[in-house]
Amino acid sequence: MPLIAFASPKGGVGKTTLAANVADALCRSGRSVLLLDLDPQNALRLHFGVPLHDTSGFMADLPRRPDWRAQVRRTASGVLLLPHGAMELRAVLEQSLLLEREPALLAAPLREMLADPQLLVLADLPPGPSQVLAVVAPLAAIIVTVLQSEAISAAILDEVESGRFLGGGTLAALYAGRLQFILNGVDLRARLSRSAAEVVARHLGPRLLGAVSRDEAVAEALSEMRLVQEVAPACAAAGDLRHVARAIEMLLPVMPEPAPAAPAAGPLSGLLRGGW
Ligand SMILES: Nc1ncnc2c1ncn2[C@@H]1O[C@H](COP(=O)(O)OP(=O)(O)OP(=O)(O)O)[C@@H](O)[C@H]1O
Ligand SMILES: [Mg+2]
Repeated sequence: MPLIAFASPKGGVGKTTLAANVADALCRSGRSVLLLDLDPQNALRLHFGVPLHDTSGFMADLPRRPDWRAQVRRTASGVLLLPHGAMELRAVLEQSLLLEREPALLAAPLREMLADPQLLVLADLPPGPSQVLAVVAPLAAIIVTVLQSEAISAAILDEVESGRFLGGGTLAALYAGRLQFILNGVDLRARLSRSAAEVVARHLGPRLLGAVSRDEAVAEALSEMRLVQEVAPACAAAGDLRHVARAIEMLLPVMPEPAPAAPAAGPLSGLLRGGW
């Protein structure tokens, strides 16, 4: 199944929040979702209640070529989570150089994940350009680009659409066609937020997958290390997140039905049947 990457040219815009909660919404609508944390901040796990002292993860172990299946956590939400793992600054820098020399270190396990026809794979990326994004962009069917509902987002739209933050050069410009957008933090009562959102929506047209309102329940859910849908299913953001998940589903190919008698094919079929 396809890879859906959450990225942004600018930091702190809500990528991790949206990746976690959209994964949850897709899971609730019956999809099997594998969610990867590719950001050394190692923050995605916090949305799923992984204890703070549990700092192990797939990316932190990458130089040792781990079996990614061994790092998968089945969360209470049903989302299968692959935490990044904690890393020191020097290790992050070294890993970036390693991935530049040897992109297959990440690309090969990603291809294995994508080979499972039952599994929808979502990935949360670090902000801005990164070596990880350069590896992921060619494999991603959709690059969900998160923009904040603020004037600067309207100002940088042309730059974002050029795809330069995907790695630069002609190749990155080709991948720019895979960009779809989400506006986050929309406050319809605030004049500047609303007019920035209107400009961005007009400009992007159908490439705007959805808009998520600024909502205290989002930060409250994170403070409890839980998902918005669990904590405040009736809040405005929860409804917006369901809409975004539906918009993403509309872009996906129809999920193949597993053969009733045979076990589900693919490397994670054991996990999906609960056999681990
Ligand atoms: N719709 C929203 N309403 C209110 N708060 C939000 C919303 N979306 C995100 N936030 C808050 O904004 C902060 C940043 O969100 P998040 O960590 O998801 O951004 P990010 O793009 O992943 O950041 P980074 O670039 O550092 O990875 C968090 O405190 C989060 O709770
Ligand atoms: Mg993040």
